[in-house]
Amino acid sequence: MPMQERLKSMCGSYVTGPDFWGREDDIARLRQLIDGGANIVLVAQRRMGKTSLMKELQRQLSSQEDRPWLCLFIDLQGAQSPEEAITELAVELRRHQGWGKKIGHLIGNFLRAIRPEEIDIKLFRIKFREAVTSGDWREKGNELFDALAKSEKPVLLILDEIPILINRILMGRTRTITSEGPSRVSEFLSWLRGNSIRHQGKIRIILLGSIGLAPMLRRANLSAAINNFVPFELPPWDHITAARCLRALAQESGIRFTNDAEIAMVEKLGICIPYHVQLFFKHVHDNCCTARKNMLCGPDNVEAIYRKGMLGTSCNELSHYEERLKGAFDERDYSLIVDLLTEAATSPPLRPDTIAGIAEDSAAEKAAIEVILQTLMHDGYLRETPEGEYVFVSHLLRDWWVSRHSHGYVPIARRAAR
Ligand SMILES: Nc1ncnc2c1ncn2[C@@H]1O[C@H](COP(=O)(O)OP(=O)(O)OP(=O)(O)O)[C@@H](O)[C@H]1O
Ligand SMILES: [Mg+2]
Repeated sequence: MPMQERLKSMCGSYVTGPDFWGREDDIARLRQLIDGGANIVLVAQRRMGKTSLMKELQRQLSSQEDRPWLCLFIDLQGAQSPEEAITELAVELRRHQGWGKKIGHLIGNFLRAIRPEEIDIKLFRIKFREAVTSGDWREKGNELFDALAKSEKPVLLILDEIPILINRILMGRTRTITSEGPSRVSEFLSWLRGNSIRHQGKIRIILLGSIGLAPMLRRANLSAAINNFVPFELPPWDHITAARCLRALAQESGIRFTNDAEIAMVEKLGICIPYHVQLFFKHVHDNCCTARKNMLCGPDNVEAIYRKGMLGTSCNELSHYEERLKGAFDERDYSLIVDLLTEAATSPPLRPDTIAGIAEDSAAEKAAIEVILQTLMHDGYLRETPEGEYVFVSHLLRDWWVSRHSHGYVPIARRAAR
């Protein structure tokens, strides 16, 4: 009998190595592009497994025997400015053996007696950030790139959460685009683009993120800023991959699906975003092991677990979606988003006349609604039907949105009649 596949249930942070499921084709496609010298922009929906894919790629490339790569992974989630982004690049370099010495001179003459490779990462970050100014971040950044280009290994630089950084530069601490925002973003992106061109063939760059990078750049009139980066689409798992994953998770934890319950799970989700598959399994696991104390799980259990576990009030794990949208739009646009998504979820499809009604009700300009719809499609909430109407892509997200926002919601058709 063939060995049953097994997978450890992991829900939350990125996964790699034995915890990383599927994605062989995506890794192969990426490796082909990288080998061909491409710089890449990978933007996919929230929780699609972008970070995991990059960490797995990093693991594979840096450990290959014949031509190991120097792979740097920089998380820009906390960065507010180009200066902080450069600092994170230096910090990541500093983590690698021998690099503290090579970049130490950029910090200046502080603590002459202490060599940069001897100070801990936290202090290094503080000192580097103090040494970078709004006047010299480009030169310091260029020096980091020049140092990297001298590495004997080929270099892959992965910048995660780039749209969050761009959004912060664009808006500062406010929730609207500031007057200097677009020019600062433009400076940063042209610096990045310049280095990608200057070190072509030696350093590859991958930009990652989940909040609409393209619509954001369009909004700031910067669409051409990174047009030398090849777009890479990361799709959801197909149903076969997701069902196999569920069987492997069940195998590992001693659960047995009956009457194709795992197929019922996949169908409930509609679109198999890896995190949603893992999250659904976690609820199945809790239900079998704790609530029912029965390791058999059939389609009826799946239905109940979906309603109570995935959509219930105790499940806050999808609120990431809302938080990201809140962070990327000002209050007025966010309330438009709530109207559009609630209409699309409660009385699908979202038709052009409903959209016009929402625009009129909040005195919003057509262009603002257009940007929002583009972002909601780009980020995988909605898709446009051939009839020019909009529907939710993920059943789970639609059902979850209904459970969160339909209570007390006054549909636009009834608002107009008031
Ligand atoms: N290849 C995979 N194999 C198994 N589980 C995965 C895989 N990819 C993603 N997951 C699941 O999704 C979760 C989130 O993964 P990850 O952080 O890589 O996603 P992300 O797209 O970077 O998310 P975010 O939008 O929050 O940045 C993981 O904890 C895991 O549960
Ligand atoms: Mg991520």
